[in-house]
Amino acid sequence: MKYYSFESYEKMSAKAASMVAAQITLKENCVLGLPTGSTPIRTYEILADMYKNGALDFAQVQTVNLDEYCGIPKENEQSYRSFMNHNLFDNVNINIDNTNVPNGMASDIAAECIRYDELIDSLGGIDLQLLGIGNNGHIGFNEPSRQFSKDTNCIDLTEDTIQAYKRFFNDISEVPRKAITMGMRSILHARKIVLIANSLVKEKIIRAAIEGPITPLVPASILQLHPDVTILYSKK
Ligand code: F6R
Repeated sequence: MKYYSFESYEKMSAKAASMVAAQITLKENCVLGLPTGSTPIRTYEILADMYKNGALDFAQVQTVNLDEYCGIPKENEQSYRSFMNHNLFDNVNINIDNTNVPNGMASDIAAECIRYDELIDSLGGIDLQLLGIGNNGHIGFNEPSRQFSKDTNCIDLTEDTIQAYKRFFNDISEVPRKAITMGMRSILHARKIVLIANSLVKEKIIRAAIEGPITPLVPASILQLHPDVTILYSKK
């Protein structure tokens, strides 16, 4: 694992954006695995600026998002599909048909999870997976548990995550209780992984993920098994 610490969110985001941009330059039809949440917002803005300046071309890029809430229509501004459109896809020349987010409104969620894994496999897997990390060590929405979940699956968000995510909603009662998340197999099969985190609150969990035992109680600790992980961290 490579670990870099930065003095600011801005510098961390610039480094993350440069790594994603390098991946796109090296392979114009690359498959990017993408997170939502607060952390990647500036990274996405910088990537959009690179596109606007003519430095980056998303025409052939394909994307698979890590997760989506269950029960929130994609048109709803709280959906991760809306988040991605607003923060990245609408601001670059990506073909929207090449962007993929799990369907949290599927009538058959189990079938949707299988479809999502098959889709990732059919794309040839993920070239670069960008990850955030939850305060409890989750990656995607793979929450602390007794076992690592291998495949895309529907999970119950933990109380920690519901508390952490209430800031995005008017009231905690509006935070969805379930989400579809990519499982560890697709994440770990990504050829390159870049995990970004900022805020002092995450320092302890990042240390546990890097230095502690590999345990499903700290889901991000499984990244220790991957040969090409870069962690970008800023306290601020
Ligand atoms: C969301 C996701 C989550 C977030 C994590 C951190 O798609 O994959 O694992 O990355 O909850 O969220 P923020 O960046 O809001 O602290």
